[in-house]
Amino acid sequence: MTAPETGTTTAGTDPEALRERALASLATARARTTLLTTCVGEPDLTAQHSPLMSPLVWDLAHIGNQEELWLLRAVGGRAAIRPEIDGLYDAFEHPRAERPSLPLLPPAEARRYAAEVRGRALDVLEAADFHGSRLTEAGFAFGMIAQHEQQHDETMLITHQLRAGPPALTAPDPEPVPLFTGPAEVLVPGGPFTMGTSDEPWALDNERPAHPRQVEPFWIDTTPVTNAAYQEFIEDGGYDTERWWAPEGWAHIRRHAVSAPLFWRRDGTRWLRRRFGTTEAVPPDEPVLHVCWYEADAYARWAGRRLPTEAEWEKAARFDPVTGRSRRYPWGDDDPAAGHANLGQRHLRPAPAGGYPAGESPLGVRQLIGDVWEWTASDFLPYPGFRAFPYREYSEVFFGSGHKVLRGGSFAVDPVACRGTFRNWDYPVRRQIFSGFRTARSEDV
Ligand code: AVJ
Ligand code: FE
Repeated sequence: MTAPETGTTTAGTDPEALRERALASLATARARTTLLTTCVGEPDLTAQHSPLMSPLVWDLAHIGNQEELWLLRAVGGRAAIRPEIDGLYDAFEHPRAERPSLPLLPPAEARRYAAEVRGRALDVLEAADFHGSRLTEAGFAFGMIAQHEQQHDETMLITHQLRAGPPALTAPDPEPVPLFTGPAEVLVPGGPFTMGTSDEPWALDNERPAHPRQVEPFWIDTTPVTNAAYQEFIEDGGYDTERWWAPEGWAHIRRHAVSAPLFWRRDGTRWLRRRFGTTEAVPPDEPVLHVCWYEADAYARWAGRRLPTEAEWEKAARFDPVTGRSRRYPWGDDDPAAGHANLGQRHLRPAPAGGYPAGESPLGVRQLIGDVWEWTASDFLPYPGFRAFPYREYSEVFFGSGHKVLRGGSFAVDPVACRGTFRNWDYPVRRQIFSGFRTARSEDV
C-alpha cells in the first residue's frame, strides 16, 4: 500500500476562489503573450525563424482558436466566430514547416480575434458553475486553456531564442547563488511511492491517475549538470568517443556535426553562447541548456552514471520519507512562490546550480522545478488507467518509444503549467527547447 495523496490547490472548491484563480491565470498568460508578440515588429511576427517553429502570429491566433474551441464552444455552447479558420490553426492539419505559407490572419487581425475570444470567454467564466461536467469541474477547462496559452508562450520564447537580430526581450538575471557546498548526490530510498495524481484539479490527462510505483534505491544529483561539468565532457573528447553514445545518437551527431550544445561556439580556448540576441561567455555554474536526449545520455555514460527514469525523478521530487506521501512540489503543497523556483520567464536564463534552497525536496534535491527541463531515461507512456481527456491529440497520439519524457519545467514555464506530476515530452534529437538534465546511479553501482 502507498499513502494517500496530499492536498489540492489552494483554491479548493469554493466557486469564487476558483473563478478568481481562473481569471488570474488567464490574465497572466495573456500579459505574457502580449509581450512576446509586441516586442518585435510585423516582419518578425510573420517570418518563420526556424523550420522547427511556427511564425509567432500562428501561435497567437492558435491560442485564440483553442480558447474558442474549448471555452466558448465546448463550455459556453456558443456558435463558432470564424469556423473557416479552424483548419489553419489545427496543429495536426498543418505541420510547422507548412504554416508560413498558409493564409494566416495578419498580426492585427490575429490580435483582434484573440481579444474577442477572450472577452467572450470571461463572460462564460463569470456564468460558469464548476460542477456537473468533467470539463468544468473545479474549473478544469479554464485551467487547461491557461496552461495551453502558457505552453505556447514557452514555444514563442524558443522562437525568440532562435531568431537572429538584436535583443527584443530583457529581464533581470537571477540572484547570485552562494557556492553550493552540499553533497553532490543523495540516496533516494527504495520502495513504493505514489506517482501521478487523481486529485490535482488542473492536472492534465497524462498525469493521471495516481498509482503506486516501485522504485529500487538510487542516487540522484542534488543539482542539474552544469556548463562547467559538461565542458569537461567536451574537453575529454566526449563527442568523438563512440562508446558513450546510444547508436542512434552517435549516427545523429555524426550526420549533423553536433559537437557542443546548441547556440555554443568556441572562441580560441573559451566557449561563447548566443542567448536572446546577445553573445556571452558560457557561465560555468549554470545548468547546461539546449542539449538533446542523446547528449544527456552520452554525458551520463561518460560520467559512469545514467539518466534517472521518470519514476525516479518524480520520487526524488515528491516523496516525503517522513510521511510516506507524495507532495505537490518538492517543497510541499504550497503553490510556487518566487523563492521556490525560477519559473514564469521572470529571468531569461536558469539560475546557477545550487539556487533556491527554499525549493529543495525533503531529501535535499535542488532545482527540480524550474530552471531547465530535465531529460529522463523514459519513453512517454500512459500510466495504468490512463484515459484521454478532453482530446486524444493532447497526449495519447504521442505515446510510444518515439518521445522521451522531460520533467520539472524551465525558467520559461509559468507556475500554472508546472507541477511535481507535470510531464513534457519531445523527440530525443530536439535541443532548441530549454532542456538540461541531472544524472543518477543505482545504489549498488
Ligand atoms: C506538451 C510542450 C509537448 O508544444 O507540442 C501545445 C504542448 N499541446 N498545444 C507542444 C501543446 C498543444 C506540447 N508539449
Ligand atoms: Fe497548441
